[in-house]
Amino acid sequence: MAPNISMTSQELLRWHLDAGVDETIAAKPVNRFESLAAEPAPQPVSQQPGFAEAPSPSISPSPSPAPATVSENGNEDVTAAVHLAQAAETVSDLRQALESFDGCVLKKTATNLVFTDGNAEARILFIGEGPGAEEDRQGTPFVGPSGKLLDKMMASIGLDRTQALISNTVFWRPPGNRTPTAHEIAVCMPFVERLIELVDPKILVALGGPAAKSLLAQTAGVGKLRGKWFPYSTPGLARPIEATALYHPAYLLRSPGQKRATWSDWLGIKRKLEED
Ligand code: URA
Repeated sequence: MAPNISMTSQELLRWHLDAGVDETIAAKPVNRFESLAAEPAPQPVSQQPGFAEAPSPSISPSPSPAPATVSENGNEDVTAAVHLAQAAETVSDLRQALESFDGCVLKKTATNLVFTDGNAEARILFIGEGPGAEEDRQGTPFVGPSGKLLDKMMASIGLDRTQALISNTVFWRPPGNRTPTAHEIAVCMPFVERLIELVDPKILVALGGPAAKSLLAQTAGVGKLRGKWFPYSTPGLARPIEATALYHPAYLLRSPGQKRATWSDWLGIKRKLEED
C-alpha cells in the first residue's frame, strides 16, 4: 500500500512509522524490489556449492529448520563466524571477535553491537531474540520495556543482573524490529554457541519463539515448549545444559493474561536453580 498523496508531512511520517520505517539509513530511498527482480533468485543453502563442507554452527540437534537463503558469501560468513568464535577463550575475547566480524548484514544498519549484560559467571543464561531500539542506542541487551519486565520477573525469584547473564540470538538490531532471518541467526549462532560454552551455566533460558526454535531445536511454538526442559549440548560442553523456554517479555506486555502461566515457569526455574 502506498501513502496517500494528500497526506500532511505529519501524517506521512506516521504512515512510515506504522509501516515499520523508524530509521533513516540513506538520504535517498532505494527500491530493493527492483534490484532483486534483476538478480537470479538465490538458491537455498542446501543447494549451494560447498554447503556440505561449511562447518555448521554445531548446536546439537541442529538449529531452526526455517528455510534459509543466503547471499553469495553466506556460507563463508558462517565459516568465518565459527572460526572466530571458537578461537575465543573468554567472554571478553568473544566480544572483541564480534566487534571485528562483518559477516552479519544487521551490523550495517545498527548503531551498536549489543552483546551481553550481567555476570559472565552466572548459573543462568537468558537468550532473547534480538536488540530493539533502546538496546541499539545503549549497546546493552534488554534495557527497553521488555528488559524492565524481565528484571521484574527475575526479581520475583530473587535474581538480578549480578546473578544472571543476558544475551540474544542476534547481536545487532534488525531494522524496524523485524524478526531476524534464518541466515542472520545462523551467522550469529556460532557466537551464541561459544558464549554458552564459555559461560557453561546450570540453566539456559530461551526467551520467545525464535530463540527457543534456534536453541532447543524444536519446531513447536513457545506455548508448547514452556514449562518443559531439554538437554542442550555442543561438542565443547562437558555435559548437557538444562534448557527451557519462556514467553518473551514483549509478548507478555501485549498479552498480560499469559503472566499467570509464566509465573509457574519462573517457579520451575527457581526450583531447578536450587537443585544441588
Ligand atoms: N527483545 C529481545 O529479544 N532482546 C533484547 O535485547 C531486547 C528486546
